[in-house]
Amino acid sequence: MTLPAATAERLRGAVLEGLLGTPKRLPSAYLYDTAGSALFESICELPEYYLTRAETEILQRHAPDMARRIGAGALLVEPGCGSGEKACMLLQHLREPVGFVPIEISTSALEGARRLLRERFPALPVHALQADFTASFTLPEVAAASRPVFFFPGSTLGNFDPANALSLLRRWRAMGSGALVGVDLRKDPDTLVAAYDDARGVTAAFNLNLLERINREFGADFDPGSFAHEAIWNATESRIEMHLRSRHAQTVRVDGQRLEFRAGETIHTENSYKYTVQGFADLARHAGWTLSGHWTDSGGRFAEYFLEP
Ligand code: AVI
Repeated sequence: MTLPAATAERLRGAVLEGLLGTPKRLPSAYLYDTAGSALFESICELPEYYLTRAETEILQRHAPDMARRIGAGALLVEPGCGSGEKACMLLQHLREPVGFVPIEISTSALEGARRLLRERFPALPVHALQADFTASFTLPEVAAASRPVFFFPGSTLGNFDPANALSLLRRWRAMGSGALVGVDLRKDPDTLVAAYDDARGVTAAFNLNLLERINREFGADFDPGSFAHEAIWNATESRIEMHLRSRHAQTVRVDGQRLEFRAGETIHTENSYKYTVQGFADLARHAGWTLSGHWTDSGGRFAEYFLEP
């Protein structure tokens, strides 16, 4: 994973600040080094992790309808495009799209998406943009003369706290003429907890990999075996929380500093917010959008929302 130096530095700062704060926490963006990204790919295949399958089902069934709503001549913009696979599912139904703007912070991911798009849609102009989409960015010039439509699948919006989710949607409202956003639905806690604490322990390995990464990048001496993965449903905040719980009192050295852990103390590593349709409609409205349509999978577990000004 190749990150721009300034981003890597900012992430390093957030890691140290989070570990030295109370309660201890880590930025969830730090989960995605090379090993973490590969573990996340495996999570998407797990029987308990229904999100990816549910969203794929929605896109397979409803992409023609979504494309009709988006209309002809759109410039599809995908912040955090990953491999670009999901965009292909939509692009194959879009009428005369004027281009695709994949946005990724990692040069390697961006290159992969560019290659895939060139292979599948050789005539489609691809304007790859290397940027941290959580900060402000400028769309390529072509956007000025076209209708940018944001595509943000995968429930990534759920990993932002509502205030940050709101500011993302607001910024895209200022630049876009539509948005198609995929977000996980609130549901029974057993299903949710199982999705984030699978029987094979892949999500546990994904979470614990954070400690391996800190050992490598900060010369730290975390013993991952001394921490347990935990997924907790926080009903008040409507979110799944991932934590790493210290199995006993211990001292860890990070970047030349001593970190004390009480037995049972946790590092909060990720939030995954779950929205009802009404909750998401309210969030979108506060950001200046109108929810003009939504689609769910046959199990009613996941939703894709179409937003218009
Ligand atoms: C990337 N994101 C939408 C995932 C989620 O479901 O919140 C990350 C993840 N964390 C644990 N499992 C998957």
